[in-house]
Amino acid sequence: MDDLRDKYIKLISEARDEAALEDLRVQAVGKKGEVSLKMRELGKMTPEERQAAGPKLNALKDEINSALTAKKAALADAALDERLKTEWLDVTLPGRPRRSGTIHPVSQVTEEVTAIFADMGFSVAEGPQIESDWHNFDALNIPGHHPARAEMDTFYMHREEGDNRPPHVLRTHTSPVQIRSMELAGAPLRVICPGRVYRADYDQTHTPMFHQVEGLAVDTDISMANLKWCLEEFVKAFFEVDAVELRFRASHFPFTEPSAEVDIRCSWEGGTLKIGEGDDWMEILGSGMVHPKVLMAGNIDPAYWQGFAFGIGIDRLAMLKYGIPDLRAFFDSDLRWLRHYGFAALDVPTLHGGLSR
Ligand code: DAH
Repeated sequence: MDDLRDKYIKLISEARDEAALEDLRVQAVGKKGEVSLKMRELGKMTPEERQAAGPKLNALKDEINSALTAKKAALADAALDERLKTEWLDVTLPGRPRRSGTIHPVSQVTEEVTAIFADMGFSVAEGPQIESDWHNFDALNIPGHHPARAEMDTFYMHREEGDNRPPHVLRTHTSPVQIRSMELAGAPLRVICPGRVYRADYDQTHTPMFHQVEGLAVDTDISMANLKWCLEEFVKAFFEVDAVELRFRASHFPFTEPSAEVDIRCSWEGGTLKIGEGDDWMEILGSGMVHPKVLMAGNIDPAYWQGFAFGIGIDRLAMLKYGIPDLRAFFDSDLRWLRHYGFAALDVPTLHGGLSR
């Protein structure tokens, strides 16, 4: 019995895996196992012999069973250790950045402009990109024969033959949203209207589709001084500097009287665009006091109300602020360009949190 015990304890301790262990179990304490066979021999013994051998055999069976159980647990532990070693993972490693999209400079700048004017009490208004001839021109005091229609290189929508109504146009500026906002909300009014506009023009600083933001303030005591203050505050906030050199240049627009164009000092030296230095001026906006006829087109009485308006080129602002020399690249959908000039999606521009930082 001792030999049997030594043999199986040794074999069990040497078993390499669960299958080997199971073989040993069958061999020792299975129905036809060595220990079981020995137990059957008890029947042929005398009662005295049986009394001595019985408990010993039972003890042997128990011992082998416990050894099997213990070894099984040890094997499972070892297997787990092995797995933990091969499947080891450093949870303190930083996450790997997945390929992610970026916010286009035009979207970023639109948000920045919106944040600044929202802070001055302007709300956002929108209008259609396919606009009626009337909203885009007539209502803005640009009658049919006016040279401004030709100057704007307008895209006209297709018209059925024999249809003599004026064709719709791809809006050439965001100014028609002034009319729509006045029609909709009346006076007093303070809105900005960002959006896409279209003109048949293409070079380093012009693309057939580009972006403007229109501004309109109508009230009973509005003057050119309010306009100038608003624009200066806007430009300082936008470029995140205490002072920017602006040039208000007397100009002419059919929808404002008087009118002023605003240029910003910049340099194009070495192909890089820098704001606030150099001998060049870049026009960034047109503005003026809303023409009485325009107020009337928006159903507002010019004898009682006045307003100022402005139209800013968003793409131009983006080029100036972020030093982007060629406008055409804005619309190439080149991923490398987007990664370089794009913005993180969660960095929403706000005045309190910083516009671009
Ligand atoms: N609509 C003009 C353009 O696209 C820009 C403009 C000038 C808008 C003067 C205005 C304004 O509101 O008052 O060139």
